[in-house]
Amino acid sequence: MSGKILVVDDEKSMCEFMEIMLTREGYDVETACTGEEAVKKTVSTGYDLVIADMMMPKMSGLELLKEVKGRRPEQDFIVMTAFAGVDTAIEAMKQGAVDYITKPFKVDEIKLVIEKSVSRKKLRKENEILKKQLQHDFSLDNFIGQSESIIELKKLAQRISNTDSTILIRGESGTGKDLIACAIHSSSDRASGPFVTINCAALPETLLESELFGYKKGSFTGAIKDKDGLFKVADGGTIFLDEIGNTSLIIQMKLLRVIEDKTFTAIGDTKPIEVDVRLIAATNADLEEEVKALKFRSDLFYRLNVIPIYIPPLRERFEDIPILVKHFLAKYCQRNEISLKSVSQEALSALNHYHWPGNVRELENCIERAVLLSRREVIEKDDFPAKVMENKPTSIVSSESPETPTLESIEKAYIYYIMNQAQGKKSKAAQILGIDSSTLYRKLEKYKLIDKFKKD
Ligand SMILES: Nc1ncnc2c1ncn2[C@@H]1O[C@H](COP(=O)(O)OP(=O)(O)OP(=O)(O)O)[C@@H](O)[C@H]1O
Ligand SMILES: [Mg+2]
Repeated sequence: MSGKILVVDDEKSMCEFMEIMLTREGYDVETACTGEEAVKKTVSTGYDLVIADMMMPKMSGLELLKEVKGRRPEQDFIVMTAFAGVDTAIEAMKQGAVDYITKPFKVDEIKLVIEKSVSRKKLRKENEILKKQLQHDFSLDNFIGQSESIIELKKLAQRISNTDSTILIRGESGTGKDLIACAIHSSSDRASGPFVTINCAALPETLLESELFGYKKGSFTGAIKDKDGLFKVADGGTIFLDEIGNTSLIIQMKLLRVIEDKTFTAIGDTKPIEVDVRLIAATNADLEEEVKALKFRSDLFYRLNVIPIYIPPLRERFEDIPILVKHFLAKYCQRNEISLKSVSQEALSALNHYHWPGNVRELENCIERAVLLSRREVIEKDDFPAKVMENKPTSIVSSESPETPTLESIEKAYIYYIMNQAQGKKSKAAQILGIDSSTLYRKLEKYKLIDKFKKD
């Protein structure tokens, strides 16, 4: 174990004993013979732990504890007391000591108590660092891009983060819809509140309804106790409804009501619940078309679309590729604890020319893979998948083609291409294509591709 410990005891022999024992355990130990000396030391030095005897002339252990805690509330403190003094030990715990040891003690016992306290403190520190990092990871600074469209988009996101307006984020799969939603929440004054996200395409209608709005015990078979809906969970924060185009008309009606009245009713309940939630929705479906086809309520669409944010596909903003590459190189080299790599000019130029159907997600995966595979400082073309390096951006609709392809033949070729990219995984391919799995399945059947991708 490591850590800096201050031992305070008026008995010199006790101080010496503790110093020897704890030094042998790997701690960095200092001692003080009086409370006053201990106060001075704790003011000038930060200790991971202070261990003090309760019974000391002039300033008692308890007084020392109060004094130290007054200046450094986060200071960990253990008290030592004679068995008869257990009451004062309890008082010390009330005043914020983390533990106590009764004298005389066994060496193993004190080692354990100290170890516990020091490791708890380390854990707390680590948690704090993680928390800070998390906040940073989700800030708008981490939405990388230097193209005009991204700069404008970030400005808009910053401007609207502190309003309560509903936001509709649109863009192809992998363009960063989740990321920007989270960044908007983190830059808003709701940041300390919850950020709750749900993918509306991932659940069947009834389940989605009970997830969103909750239910009362007994409202249907299986509702054995009350359950809070996500709108309740998100109270004071933000709710992010991903793939909102996949909601049923009934859910859409309830969503409209939350937006308009800030209230909703749990399934099986009659009392409306009032909540203060900011709603961000995302979709890569053509909602205007869905509205026309009466699959999406137009009133909800207009309510959601108060502030539309559109993230263009990566192929329309090649300027962002180099800076994203740099960002992901740093991210994955750091994560894997390897020294920072770079990408050769030739490879970078190929990355710039690829059409990135999976957008930033695909680029990120590509860089992660190359960082892990390449043994060189400079990542070369052959560290990337051949298809990315091919440099034929529109190869599926080749301009040399003798006749103009039909829309269907393009769709078939594209689905085939994406299925290969997704290594035959239908769910993944559907995600990249921006359609749901059942639609993909139908299309695979239609184009007689189903046998080619039997698994999954
Ligand atoms: N501008 C960006 N800067 C940094 N990372 C990005 C950016 N855009 C996307 N990413 C990263 O790309 C990956 C995909 O982004 P995200 O999940 O937000 O996309 P999405 O649009 O929600 O995709 P889907 O439609 O499939 O849900 C994530 O790891 C995200 O961190
Ligand atoms: Mg998403």
